[in-house]
Amino acid sequence: MHIYDDQIKLSLLVGTDFRVACILDIFKLDFSSNEDKSLETAAMEAGASPEDILATLNRYLREDFFPESSVQSITSNIVTIHHGFLWKTLPRIEKLFEHIALEDELEEAKRLFFKVAENIRNHSREEEQRFFPALIELESRESQKQAISIETEKLKKTMVEMENEHSSCAMAFERLRLLTSGYTWNRSDKADYRLLMQQLRILDFDLKLHIYKENNLLHSKLKQITQSIEVPVND
Ligand SMILES: [Fe+2]
Ligand SMILES: [Fe+2]
Repeated sequence: MHIYDDQIKLSLLVGTDFRVACILDIFKLDFSSNEDKSLETAAMEAGASPEDILATLNRYLREDFFPESSVQSITSNIVTIHHGFLWKTLPRIEKLFEHIALEDELEEAKRLFFKVAENIRNHSREEEQRFFPALIELESRESQKQAISIETEKLKKTMVEMENEHSSCAMAFERLRLLTSGYTWNRSDKADYRLLMQQLRILDFDLKLHIYKENNLLHSKLKQITQSIEVPVND
């Protein structure tokens, strides 16, 4: 586990873990220059907030996650790391959109964001309150060789709906990227605007990871379990 502070030099930071470079790149920090700057200096130069970068680094790099984990630990990771991030970040971005005087294209981005944020909230609640607990119960019954009373067909149907919603969300973010020219900002832009772009950028990144874990790791567990309990039909 790493805990960083803003005086750490970029060379040391990038050298500790390759994921650091991806995160610094999201915030547009130049870590390839010869000059070995501190995180704070490089963040200021990029017009980014050192606190946000540190919070992001400390969040991802503390992650103790293995794809082969159980449904219980994958869902717990998703809820803690990704849903936790959403509950904090969605209102923050909405507030920034409310406070910034917007050009036409950003008006569209704002409308789209509010709509997608509502969909994400409903989707995440459904996962936390119904879908994930049902998957955990299914796994536990399967491992104890107990009778599976859960309707697996219904679960598989919910899984497909969830994946369709993930695709819609990814499409909405594709549009958001277009409307904001890839969430770019200039140093001359106001602080609120820069923060809005950074928050959208990190949310976009986090959602990709989040959706990857659900579609490819979690849902594949459901497919494995249902395949193993399906009785082959004999003629
Ligand atoms: Fe989720
Ligand atoms: Fe999801």
